[in-house]
Amino acid sequence: MKLSQTFSSLLGAIVIGAASTVAADTTVSFDGRTFVNHGLVGFGRINASAVDSYGETLGGLGSAIALESVQSQGSSYTGKIRLNPDRGHNTQTTTDYRARSQTFTFTFDPTKGSATVENIAFKYESTQLYRYAVAGLNYTTGLDPTAVKNATFATPPLPVAPSDNHVSFDSEGFAFSADGHLQFVSDEYGPYIHILERQTGIVLTSIRPPDAIVPKDAKGNDNFTAEVNPTTGRTANQGFEGLTLDRKTNTLWALLQSATIQDGGSDKTTNRYSRLLAFDVSKVPASAPLVHEYVVPLPQSKKLKTRASSELHIVDSTTFLVLARDGNGFGDTDPGASYKHADLISTKNATDIHGTKYDAPANPISPGGTLDASITPTPYASFVDLVDPAQIGKFGLQTGGAFDQTLIASKLESLAVAPSSSADNFLLFVVSDNDFITKNGHQAAQDPKTGKYVLQDYSDPYAVTNGDAATQVFIYNVTLPGYSQGSASFPN
Ligand SMILES: *[C@@H]1O[C@H](CO)[C@@H](O)[C@H](O)[C@H]1NC(C)=O
Ligand SMILES: *[C@@H]1O[C@H](CO)[C@@H](O)[C@H](O)[C@H]1NC(C)=O
Ligand SMILES: *[C@@H]1O[C@H](CO)[C@@H](O)[C@H](O)[C@H]1NC(C)=O
Ligand SMILES: *[C@@H]1O[C@H](CO)[C@@H](O)[C@H](O)[C@H]1NC(C)=O
Ligand SMILES: *[C@@H]1O[C@H](CO)[C@@H](O)[C@H](O)[C@H]1NC(C)=O
Ligand SMILES: *[C@@H]1O[C@H](CO)[C@@H](O)[C@H](O)[C@H]1NC(C)=O
Repeated sequence: MKLSQTFSSLLGAIVIGAASTVAADTTVSFDGRTFVNHGLVGFGRINASAVDSYGETLGGLGSAIALESVQSQGSSYTGKIRLNPDRGHNTQTTTDYRARSQTFTFTFDPTKGSATVENIAFKYESTQLYRYAVAGLNYTTGLDPTAVKNATFATPPLPVAPSDNHVSFDSEGFAFSADGHLQFVSDEYGPYIHILERQTGIVLTSIRPPDAIVPKDAKGNDNFTAEVNPTTGRTANQGFEGLTLDRKTNTLWALLQSATIQDGGSDKTTNRYSRLLAFDVSKVPASAPLVHEYVVPLPQSKKLKTRASSELHIVDSTTFLVLARDGNGFGDTDPGASYKHADLISTKNATDIHGTKYDAPANPISPGGTLDASITPTPYASFVDLVDPAQIGKFGLQTGGAFDQTLIASKLESLAVAPSSSADNFLLFVVSDNDFITKNGHQAAQDPKTGKYVLQDYSDPYAVTNGDAATQVFIYNVTLPGYSQGSASFPN
């Protein structure tokens, strides 16, 4: 114990020394432009045992984020951000967690910050609980949806928990509509994209992807459970992790975490060909037709295991950042994170397969993990290394060492971009999903007799062994040539 601590602090000292002298910009040439990573400039934490205004643990925050505003004042920044937890505390089993978004304000001073000083501070402001309009304005649930609520005039068939008929949400992507009145939440169960009123959190309807993506049983019926893999469609717990809106064209882009079952999804060595879908949302909630679909070749480890994707963020109408990663770090049993990246993809030069035979479950794009020769996937380039020891060492963080608060989080799951005070340079926010891992947790579930939501305590076994998993917040300084979205008052 002592030895390894000494070793890791020695290692920390060397890394920090290196960071201040040699950590250089990294550049990548992509699509005829030069993208630059100027490195990690901000870090902060949100306490894992903090609670929201309902008394419930503020966990899972980094599943899906969107900036509401960012202002620069001298060398520092202030702003407002919305964070969507996923399906509540579920390290043992799924729970009756109501989907919601959490609003925080923050301050960030890039001139401060060191191995012992955090320079991003988040302050909790308020909570918006979601309710589904056609399900009796009931709250949603995190419980596994083994039942299906039939389609109505307004909605596609919905994943519901059989115990109370509540729509099951596992939120993983978040974006505001171009006019600012709606918000989009993508999920893993459907995998659907829910359309909500921004002011009220009321879900108006949901976008259903083509049948190739919807989880179906052997008879071809929808079955949205995430406890077992479907016969075709999205792999269990590998839904729409990535969501981003192109405000210029009103196109909403969603990225699956990895391949569908028929495309090789059941094994990490065959599931690298993921699908990127685009919906025209200029007429929502009335309609949201599929207008593009591309194949994204996710990166692989040396052992050819897929680095699945946790997030998507727009740069311009054809260029996107993709967060691809391993599962190692705090929250996992293996501390040695080696690949967590914000990489670049482009739809230029790639085959658009929307409206083709591949939208039917019977026609895989990559049976057994081998891509059909008729399809050219999106170009993919490595960009920001989110576990570079020279960068994370600036804030006293490490990978592969002790299981303590200095270990980088396993689940870096969200990206957001804001303009900075220098042109062409942007603040790239990255937030972790801590899976609600705390010794001192609180979560409400509905009492079936009274209908009231009642708080219950929990103590996560991982936290009992390794300590609480704080939410980690990072800001990178990146040059994104051609970035075409958003402003300080309405970033994207
Ligand atoms: C697309 O192809 C053109 C012509 O070969 C090339 O100049 C451009 O860099 C390519 N874009 C990407 C993103 O690969
Ligand atoms: C988190 O908050 C709790 C309750 O206020 C406090 O006891 C604990 O020390 C905090 N943890 C950290 C790491 O700051
Ligand atoms: C609303 O929830 C209650 C249980 O809280 C359930 O009995 C009812 O069926 C739900 N309403 C609809 C329309 O799904
Ligand atoms: C969905 O699949 C689960 C697991 O196999 C099963 O328990 C459930 O009954 C199925 N639901 C429907 C609607 O077929
Ligand atoms: C959905 O529709 C099918 C076919 O019409 C019907 O058998 C089933 O009972 C319906 N399910 C619900 C929950 O209403
Ligand atoms: C980002 O990097 C550029 C180029 O080195 C620098 O001018 C700018 O001040 C940096 N911005 C922040 C917020 O660190």
